[in-house]
Amino acid sequence: MSSISIKTPDDITGMRIAGKLAAEVLDFIAPHVKVGVTTGELDRLCHEYMINVQGSIPAPLNYCPPGYTPYPKAICTSINDVICHGIPGDKVLKSGDAINLDITIIKDGYHGDTSRMFLVGEPSILARRLSLITYECMWLGISKIKPGAHLGDIGFAIQQHAEKSGYSVVREFCGHGIGKVFHEEPQVLHYGHPGTLEELAPGMVFTVEPMINAGRREIREMGDGWTIKTKDRSLSAQWEHMILVTETGYEVLTVSAGMPPPPAFIANTPASLVTI
Ligand code: MF3
Ligand code: CO
Ligand code: CO
Repeated sequence: MSSISIKTPDDITGMRIAGKLAAEVLDFIAPHVKVGVTTGELDRLCHEYMINVQGSIPAPLNYCPPGYTPYPKAICTSINDVICHGIPGDKVLKSGDAINLDITIIKDGYHGDTSRMFLVGEPSILARRLSLITYECMWLGISKIKPGAHLGDIGFAIQQHAEKSGYSVVREFCGHGIGKVFHEEPQVLHYGHPGTLEELAPGMVFTVEPMINAGRREIREMGDGWTIKTKDRSLSAQWEHMILVTETGYEVLTVSAGMPPPPAFIANTPASLVTI
């Protein structure tokens, strides 16, 4: 029995709007991600843009899953060996930093969730390659999405590409169903085996958001109750899109004018529909 919700046409309209708004926050903040800016300033700018320009609400602010303390900021800023859930603050970006900005907004009750990597100043070859491979991992996973495919197909594609590139896949965090609720079923694992786990059906909406480490996959939790780092202090990268399963394949909901284009191998996939 599957408890993955099937969105109604009205839900899908709402999710398209929310997804686009989340992606547009990333477009807005991109030129500000430079040497010398603090993560707190990036949070302030995004928060102000959501409230005053978009009329949207930052979903992370005060978000409090069971066993957590309320998240204190509007966005997540995860630098270098921070895997996810980095809390914005006084940290100043320096040349060579690799930072993930993860944006989740709520508009008319619907969530839009997306994240991108930004490479600051003069990034290392490693940071560039890790970000690129992680981006390819996300899209390889997305490219498997169509009715009749299984969640395990997505995880397998991601794990294969990460591991053959010499990297590892974080296991403790995963993609997720999303809608009027921030995190709902299913869990979208970024590792696994083809043909396993739930079968996909039109109207499902979930994120694909692989966290890939340059070193080992183990994590450690910081004392702030949120920040997750690599145990071996190796670099970690993440990209995230929110996807609708359609009758013929998938639709990326977190699209915007400034989003990075899909890798070339996607442009030739007939099933893909990437609308702006
Ligand atoms: N946006 C994250 C995700 O992709 C969740 C962040 S929860 C927060 O699922 F509270 F840290 F913001
Ligand atoms: Co996110
Ligand atoms: Co997410």
